[in-house]
Amino acid sequence: MPRLVVISNRVAVPKARGVAGAQGGLAGALNSALKANGGIWFGWSGQETAEFTGSINYVRSAEGVTTATIDLETQDVDEYYNGYANSTLWPLFHYRIDLTQYEREFGKGYERVNQRFAESALPLIDDGDLVWVHDYHLMPMGERLRSMGVKNRMGFFLHTPWPPTNLFVSLPYHERLVQALLHYDVLGFQNDTWLESFLHYCEKELKADVNRDTGEITLDGRSTIARAYPIGIDYDFFTAKGEEGEARQAQQRLMSSTRHRIAAIGVDRLDYSKGLPERIDGIGRFFDRHPEHVRDFVYIQIAPPSREDIGSYQKIRAILEQKTGQINGARSEVDLVPIRYVNKGHSQAELYGYYRAAKIALVTPLRDGMNLVAKEYVAAQDPEDPGVLILSRFAGAAQQLDCGGKGALLINPHSPDDISHHIKLALDMQLDERKERYTNMIATVRDDNVQRWTENFIADLGGEAA
Ligand code: F6P
Repeated sequence: MPRLVVISNRVAVPKARGVAGAQGGLAGALNSALKANGGIWFGWSGQETAEFTGSINYVRSAEGVTTATIDLETQDVDEYYNGYANSTLWPLFHYRIDLTQYEREFGKGYERVNQRFAESALPLIDDGDLVWVHDYHLMPMGERLRSMGVKNRMGFFLHTPWPPTNLFVSLPYHERLVQALLHYDVLGFQNDTWLESFLHYCEKELKADVNRDTGEITLDGRSTIARAYPIGIDYDFFTAKGEEGEARQAQQRLMSSTRHRIAAIGVDRLDYSKGLPERIDGIGRFFDRHPEHVRDFVYIQIAPPSREDIGSYQKIRAILEQKTGQINGARSEVDLVPIRYVNKGHSQAELYGYYRAAKIALVTPLRDGMNLVAKEYVAAQDPEDPGVLILSRFAGAAQQLDCGGKGALLINPHSPDDISHHIKLALDMQLDERKERYTNMIATVRDDNVQRWTENFIADLGGEAA
C-alpha cells in the first residue's frame, strides 16, 4: 500500500500527554487516517518566529504517525492565517460575504505561505507516495508541487462548504484559485450541495467540461475527479472513550450538578458560522414561551475561543457573552442559572461523558461543511435511553442524519421560534420515538465513519483501501 503524505495547515503534534496544536474535526480525522495507513503529516507548528527559517521539526507518535512541522513568521500568520484563510476564504465559504475582507496583502501572504509549504514539503515526498492536501488554507499547494516536478497522485479535500457561484465570483482572481485546484487528481467535498456548487462554477465560469455521472472535470486537456466524501468520526476510538474513568466522571459531574433538571448541550468552536447568538436567542424564546421549564431545563454551552486575533471573532464572543448574560440576569435565581457558558476546550473523554448526560444536543450552525459534534453526540448516547439531536438544516451532517425525517430534528438556525419549538418537541418526545430516531442515526454514524471516508478517498486517489 502506498505511503500517505498528508499536508494541512494544522497538525496534531503528539505530546507526552495527548496531542496539541490543533482543534476541530479535521485534526481527529487525519490522525485516524494516518494511524490506519502510516505516513507523514506535514503542516504549521502553530508557532510564530520573527523570520521564516524553513527548518522542520519531526515527532514520531507511539501509534507510528510522524509529524513534520514548520514555524511561520509573524507576517505570514497575519496575512495568510488570520488574513486570507480566515478573513477572506472562511467567511466567503460560509456565505458571509458581509464579513469577507478582500485585502491585496492577504492574497500575497497566502501565495507566499503556499510556496513555503510546498518547498518545505517537497523533500518529504517519495516516488509512489499519495499526497493528500487539506482545506482552504492550501488550495494552491498542488499546483506549486506540480511546478516543482512532483508527478505523484495528489488529492485535495475541502472540509468547509463550497459557496454558490454568485458568491464565489466576488473573490478577486477567483479563476486562479480554481484553476490551481484542477492540478489535483481528486477533489473531495463534504456533500452533494458543495460539490454541485463547485461543478457549476467550473462549467459556468471556466467553461470546463463536466461529467456529472463520473465527476470528471476537463479543462485544457487535464482531468480531475470531483466527488462528495462525507467525513465521519472514528467511531470505535470515540466510543471506547466511554469506558474511561474520565468519561464516567464527566457524566456523573454533569448529572449531579443538574439534578431534577434536563440538560441540553452545545459544543462549538467560538465561530460566527456556528449560529451561537441565534441559538441563545432560541433558548431565550423557549424560556419566554415556557416559563414552567425555567426550573427544570438547563443549557450548557461549551465554546472554546478560536482565531482570537480576528475582529469578527472578538465581536461574536462579545455578542454571545452579552446575550447569555442578559438571559441569565433575567431568569436566574439564587439557586439556579439557566445557561452555563464555558469558554474552554475539553478532552474527547470528557465530551463523551457530557454528551451522554445531556438529553438534548443543539447543533445549529448557520452553515457548516459537515459538523462532527452532531455525530459524536449520537455515538455517545445510551441505546436504551437516547437523547435527541436538534440539527441545523444548513450543516453538511443534515443530509446524512435526517434519515427521511426519522433521525435528527432539523431546524432553521436563523429562527428563534423554530429552535424554541423543537426544544419543546425534544423535551416531550417519548422513549419509543427517541429510540427509533437514534437507531436510524447510529447506523450512519457507525458505518460512514472516518475509516470509510479515508478508504473511499484513497481508493479514488489510486491507492489500495486501508
Ligand atoms: O474544519 C475547518 C477548520 O478550519 C480546520 O481546518 C481547522 O483545523 C479547524 O477548523 C480549527 O480551526 P483553526 O485551525 O483555525 O483553529
